[in-house]
Amino acid sequence: MRFCRVNLTYFCAPMNLQPAIYFAPFQGITTKAFRAVYARYFAGVDKLFTPYFANIAVDYPLPALKMKALQHQSENGIPVIPQILSKSAPEILSFARSCAALGFGELNWNLGCPYPQVARKKRGSGMLPFPEMVDEILDQVMPHMPLSFSVKCRLGYTKASEIMDLLPVFNRYPVSELTIHARTGKQLYSGKTDPDAFGAALEGFQVPVVYNGDIFTTEDFRNISGLFPGISRFMIGRGILQDPFLPARIKGLPQPGDGRAVLRGFLDDLYFETRREKKDSPSALNAMKEYWTYLMFAFEEPVVVFRRLKKAGSFDDYEDATNEVFAHDSLKIQD
Ligand SMILES: Cc1cc2nc3c(=O)[nH]c(=O)nc-3n(C[C@H](O)[C@H](O)[C@H](O)COP(=O)(O)O)c2cc1C
Repeated sequence: MRFCRVNLTYFCAPMNLQPAIYFAPFQGITTKAFRAVYARYFAGVDKLFTPYFANIAVDYPLPALKMKALQHQSENGIPVIPQILSKSAPEILSFARSCAALGFGELNWNLGCPYPQVARKKRGSGMLPFPEMVDEILDQVMPHMPLSFSVKCRLGYTKASEIMDLLPVFNRYPVSELTIHARTGKQLYSGKTDPDAFGAALEGFQVPVVYNGDIFTTEDFRNISGLFPGISRFMIGRGILQDPFLPARIKGLPQPGDGRAVLRGFLDDLYFETRREKKDSPSALNAMKEYWTYLMFAFEEPVVVFRRLKKAGSFDDYEDATNEVFAHDSLKIQD
């Protein structure tokens, strides 16, 4: 089935309105607990995403663990968007039906995961060199999709030019948004983003495009939005993990007087929620330490901060280390 449409959203992006800012998904970090606690403490984010779901049993109810990880449809008024990593139309549709039944309004398809064990199987960014495969899946999925269907991809897997062959495919379907991480899959998360390739592709898209990649500061945001004045939607990942105040700062929203106290409150709530979510298993400690690999950059001396945290072998050690950080280390953001 082919869809014909004219979508002028990109060309008519309002210049004077606030940008939309989406908090990117992170497997193992932006969990249910993280999303809930983040949304209670910080302003400025317009959409939250779940880390990707995979291995969905077609036409079976979702198992309890997946149901739990999907809670809730929104956090403090911010919509939560579930994400699926799949190369099977029936699997995508089955998950979409479950999400629709739970009250979600949008499902996001992960075509960006770069990890070789995923990409090798033509999943995630590994599907990007095969536009005919993307076409076939969209062709099967879109006529039956019970909710808005958005896509998150990269410029390509091996070459940034792959996006040019995907462009007519995405334009054929009523995909609600296309987030493009301006790197190739082969680059993983390092090396330079490629704004030129992003800009070249942008001109041809009729689907509303969301920019993603390496926005860490308000200055990065100004640079990217200066390069692409027609873009009004931005997905930010590591920048928010490192500086949870970043979306509010980008939007010029009021900042708390005592940012340090807000950050401490957020971290403490996140710690206790994570312990609860993981039933006090050691994985709660590991999850907090993983988050600190990003949050350490909120401090003037990240290496010193992380050294305090990484040796914590118990919850008591972790609490002592966090107390030490907040007693001795200066914040780079907000102070
Ligand atoms: C540890 C880790 C886990 C990630 N998990 C996901 C995921 O589940 N789904 C997804 O679409 N992207 C995932 N990403 C990619 C981020 O969402 C984001 O696209 C990427 O970090 C680039 O944006 P940034 O430069 O703003 O961080 C992950 C990235 C990292 C480093």
